[in-house]
Amino acid sequence: MKIRAVEFIKSAVKPAHYPEYDFPEIAFAGRSNVGKSSLINTLINRKDMVKTSSRPGCTQLINFFLVNEALSLVDLPGYGYAKVSKKIRAQWQPMVETYVETRKNLLGLILLMDIRRDPGKEELDMVRWLETNQMPCLLILTKADKLSKTKQLKQLDAAASAFNRDRNGIVLFSAKTRQGRQTIWDEIHNLIDW
Ligand code: GTP
Ligand code: MG
Repeated sequence: MKIRAVEFIKSAVKPAHYPEYDFPEIAFAGRSNVGKSSLINTLINRKDMVKTSSRPGCTQLINFFLVNEALSLVDLPGYGYAKVSKKIRAQWQPMVETYVETRKNLLGLILLMDIRRDPGKEELDMVRWLETNQMPCLLILTKADKLSKTKQLKQLDAAASAFNRDRNGIVLFSAKTRQGRQTIWDEIHNLIDW
């Protein structure tokens, strides 16, 4: 997809604050610090449109971005970071669940996992929950540049068997090398049926 224009629209916590447009929307989820914001920057060819940080817990609100005045990309706050306060953790789950359950224009979720970790309970639970909500979910193993090609494929197989998916249903990605960027765009196009 040729990126002509990207706009930050707004941050939101609850449905009343979500933007009122009805463009197709794709959201990015995953553990804190996994690289959600970096992945969005890579997709839209911007270095720092979406704020990233080496400190986990950088994104704490639901952030809406509009691409080419046609496609909405949503950066969700990360989960599972032990050092954020209990209060923030207690806010996270209802914030993301409400978003997924109520957002009409949401067509799919992209779930990122660090390629160096085996999928955890959070990810398995999240995928099962999305399936019961009939929400399509694309799985990404990110920071692929941290492993050799052989190890990348080994982790791909482990994830495919953990989620009971075909290898082709999981994308190897790196924000550093941009490996996997085009595949993710192709999958987004499939999800929104353009
Ligand atoms: P939260 O907003 O805290 O939930 O984090 P996030 O998932 O948005 O992660 P973010 O994009 O801010 O990246 C976290 C750290 O990982 C930053 O230091 C990034 O530079 C680094 N990072 C992200 N993607 C990659 C990647 O593909 N390869 C490498 N080597 N580092 C990455
Ligand atoms: Mg972030």
